[in-house]
Amino acid sequence: MLEGRHIVILGGSSGIGFAVAEAAIAAGATVRIGSTNADKIEAAALRLGASASGAVVDTTDEASLEAFFRGTGPIDHLVHTAGDRLPRGLAIGPDFDLAAAQVAMGARFWGPLLAVKYALPHLAPAASITLTAGLYAHRPAKGSTMSTAVAGAVEHLARGLAVDLAPIRVNAVTPGLIATEMWAKVPEDAQAAMTKAQPLPRMGAAAEAAEAYLYFMRAGFTTGQVAVVDGGRLFA
Ligand SMILES: NC(=O)c1ccc[n+]([C@@H]2O[C@H](COP(=O)([O-])OP(=O)(O)OC[C@H]3O[C@@H](n4cnc5c(N)ncnc54)[C@H](OP(=O)(O)O)[C@@H]3O)[C@@H](O)[C@H]2O)c1
Repeated sequence: MLEGRHIVILGGSSGIGFAVAEAAIAAGATVRIGSTNADKIEAAALRLGASASGAVVDTTDEASLEAFFRGTGPIDHLVHTAGDRLPRGLAIGPDFDLAAAQVAMGARFWGPLLAVKYALPHLAPAASITLTAGLYAHRPAKGSTMSTAVAGAVEHLARGLAVDLAPIRVNAVTPGLIATEMWAKVPEDAQAAMTKAQPLPRMGAAAEAAEAYLYFMRAGFTTGQVAVVDGGRLFA
């Protein structure tokens, strides 16, 4: 069902987005990936092969998004996995930094919303949009107030857009701990300690998270939903 479909993946040069690109191409689609670093895009597109293309885009910059989507052609499915490291200064207390909090909302919340704005004229009526939230939305940890709020906001953004943009379908994937470039600097024993209480006591693979995005692309009667891919961490 993805044979011949054109899929745009913002954040596709690495991690979960790259795994979505690989899986979509394996299912017969063509993909266009976008992220901020031209070298990363070039390397990723090379690894993905002839069914992939890529271009630089910063999802926090409206002019950049407008230019990116002008070059994409008609889109069957839009996936947003772009996300950067959260800035310092988010701990709630006397040092809480509103400017840092606004940056935190940039690539993770305003980014997907603006991406939808600029993608809309290019989306087919039967298109789907899949956003990326995070497990903090359901399982806050000490010191994670902003991450919790941003992840929850993305899930609810998907629900609101599902109603506003119908018949275009909009859903969100909520990953637990997924072994991507984001975790590259965390030693394996620390990863094992973080995941040991989960029903599935390991980091998830990016390819396992990608399955949820492919499900949402194919699931023609599913909209406004959230898929949690967390090895059961929610219940740990
Ligand atoms: N991995 C996990 O355990 C986990 C858990 C919960 C939620 N998540 C969320 O899932 C999403 C993907 O995570 P990941 O692990 O796949 O991370 P990743 O490997 O670091 O990939 C993030 C991607 O986003 C791109 N990006 C960053 N800022 C961007 C911007 N402003 N505009 C466009 N592209 C941008 C990066 O490329 P450039 O450097 O080239 O811009 C990269 O391609 C993130 O939003 C993350 O918060 C991940």
